[in-house]
Amino acid sequence: MAVTKPTLLSLLSLTSSVTAWGTLGHDTVAFIAQNFLAPETTTFAKGLLNDTSSAYLANVATWADSYRYTAEGTFSAPLHYIDALDEPPTSCNIDFDRDCPEEGCIVSAIANYTTRVQDTTLSVVERQKALKWVIHFLGDIHQPLHVENLAIGGNTIDVTFNGTSTNLHHIWDSNMAEKLIGGYSLSDAEEWSTSLVADIKTGKYATQTSTWLSGININDSISSAVVWATDANSYVCTTVLPEGEDAVQGQELQGAYYDAAIPVVQVQVAKAGYRLAAWLNLIVTGSTGLESSSKYNKNKMAVPGAYVKRGETGLEDWMLEARRVRRAFGWNCGAEGHAH
Ligand SMILES: *[C@@H]1O[C@H](CO)[C@@H](O)[C@H](O)[C@H]1NC(C)=O
Ligand SMILES: *[C@@H]1O[C@H](CO)[C@@H](O)[C@H](O)[C@H]1NC(C)=O
Ligand SMILES: *[C@@H]1O[C@H](CO)[C@@H](O)[C@H](O)[C@H]1NC(C)=O
Ligand SMILES: *[C@@H]1O[C@H](CO)[C@@H](O)[C@H](O)[C@H]1NC(C)=O
Ligand SMILES: [Zn+2]
Repeated sequence: MAVTKPTLLSLLSLTSSVTAWGTLGHDTVAFIAQNFLAPETTTFAKGLLNDTSSAYLANVATWADSYRYTAEGTFSAPLHYIDALDEPPTSCNIDFDRDCPEEGCIVSAIANYTTRVQDTTLSVVERQKALKWVIHFLGDIHQPLHVENLAIGGNTIDVTFNGTSTNLHHIWDSNMAEKLIGGYSLSDAEEWSTSLVADIKTGKYATQTSTWLSGININDSISSAVVWATDANSYVCTTVLPEGEDAVQGQELQGAYYDAAIPVVQVQVAKAGYRLAAWLNLIVTGSTGLESSSKYNKNKMAVPGAYVKRGETGLEDWMLEARRVRRAFGWNCGAEGHAH
């Protein structure tokens, strides 16, 4: 396939881009996953999505970001993240009981839609939506600022990137990946995925991939998703805000900050694609298909009800306040309405 170099037009459109770990990140995650699906999983996904094209997962990877802005889909906006009430950079962690509020979060959503995609009593349309959410949320859960409460996931930390005013959440969603790749079209995503798939199979990630699947358990979607969220959240302390919020507030981040962050963007997109493939393979075949040691689960159904919330008991006052601030801010990204 022809390599698309950025044209003058695409460079001009970059400056007004309102895409997110949305278009480039999500499409790349989907293309990576397509490379690691078992044949039965591919057949299942193409059938349920009614798409036999070569971009059958990528074509629906950002549906959830459009749907959340519809009246019917408003309820799903808080499902794109989990607001970890941790204390970066001193302490980074995810606690499902503490961090997932009544309206749900990305961890409970992954559990719910993993169950629903397998529930043959539901309509095809509902199962199709469930699959589209699983594809999207496995991407979002790998973006460190989708698994952090501080500063509304970085949305209220103003920064510049190559002189353009934006916020920290947004540069992690899109600017850094787009700078690396030079665009955000479907063919840019496919090209990026080709390079990350090579890194996974024979390159710099080849020795790590078995650790990427540790903790994955189709019988326990909550704990599986908590493992992925904890992994992404750990980068908030080490890479996103290593010296705290004030050190980046108002700063230009295209230089040294980008240089330190871009390997994390790359490895997280690679992990998301690999884990998405493993998860979909588990749903359809009972095996990740990616490790000889993977367990075959006869009972593939995720256990419903495991994510019943305990409410707000046990939260400290500052945590209740942080949650109130998030709700007042709104469930979407910053004022520009960037999908994430
Ligand atoms: C599947 O897609 C084709 C065209 O792409 C369309 O004609 C058909 O109605 C679709 N079927 C379902 C069940 O959505
Ligand atoms: C599961 O998803 C369905 C469909 O989006 C939704 O109506 C329901 O409230 C969700 N349940 C939980 C427990 O999140
Ligand atoms: C950064 O900004 C300059 C000046 O506006 C522009 O010429 C250059 O193409 C930009 N670089 C990137 C990577 O967007
Ligand atoms: C999943 O559940 C089934 C049935 O309860 C059990 O046989 C299997 O060992 C479980 N697998 C894992 C990985 O826990
Ligand atoms: Zn999202």
